[in-house]
Amino acid sequence: MTTPGLSQGPSAGLSPVPAAASRIRLARIMDALDVNLYGNVHGGVIMKMVDDAAGAAAARHSGGAAVTVAMDEMVFLVSVHVGDLVTCEAQVNWTGRTSMEVGVRVTAEPWDRVEATHHVASAYLAFVGIDEHERPRPVPGVEPGTPAEERRFNEALIRRQARLARRAAIEASRAPSP
Ligand SMILES: CC(C)(COP(=O)(O)OP(=O)(O)OC[C@H]1O[C@@H](n2cnc3c(N)ncnc32)[C@H](O)[C@@H]1OP(=O)(O)O)[C@@H](O)C(=O)NCCC(=O)NCCS
Repeated sequence: MTTPGLSQGPSAGLSPVPAAASRIRLARIMDALDVNLYGNVHGGVIMKMVDDAAGAAAARHSGGAAVTVAMDEMVFLVSVHVGDLVTCEAQVNWTGRTSMEVGVRVTAEPWDRVEATHHVASAYLAFVGIDEHERPRPVPGVEPGTPAEERRFNEALIRRQARLARRAAIEASRAPSP
């Protein structure tokens, strides 16, 4: 049986790129425009930062334009407040033929004093490299360089299979019955 994702190695003709080469960090201090009606930072503000950071990592890895095709569930572990310095660290975990999984870790700390940094959320996004016609284009393979990157690569493959299986099951459920 062919397992989705397992059969698709790095794109032919493109040299693999070390996972660490795509690593980026995006940080911003939360201000009064970022709050929800309860006075905490709006989850959507954090999600946009996550998408921006992941998009930059995907573009850096693939050497061109890349669009978000899917974002896994995102659990907020602690609330974020005005005056917090929020940091998103993103890196490509896995690549298929045209798609990439990017992992993002979000942390927060007060902007004006040294205190413990809180883990706010982790997120996994799938991006697709696109050409000038906005069609999928082959992307270079990713080369894990550390045991942690190796673990992320393997776990990304499990998530990839789950995403595709869920999509296929939903499509099958919509097919007209004979
Ligand atoms: C992304 C897009 C170009 C893909 O086009 P498509 O015709 O579906 O392309 P394909 O079916 O060939 O899939 C391309 C890749 O995406 C992957 N993919 C498609 N749907 C996916 C999903 N739900 N989850 C994970 N990967 C997915 C495929 O497995 C394939 O990966 P591979 O080449 O590494 O095996 C197209 O869906 C699109 O333009 N979407 C809008 C993107 C966008 O605008 N995002 C910004 C948010 S508004």
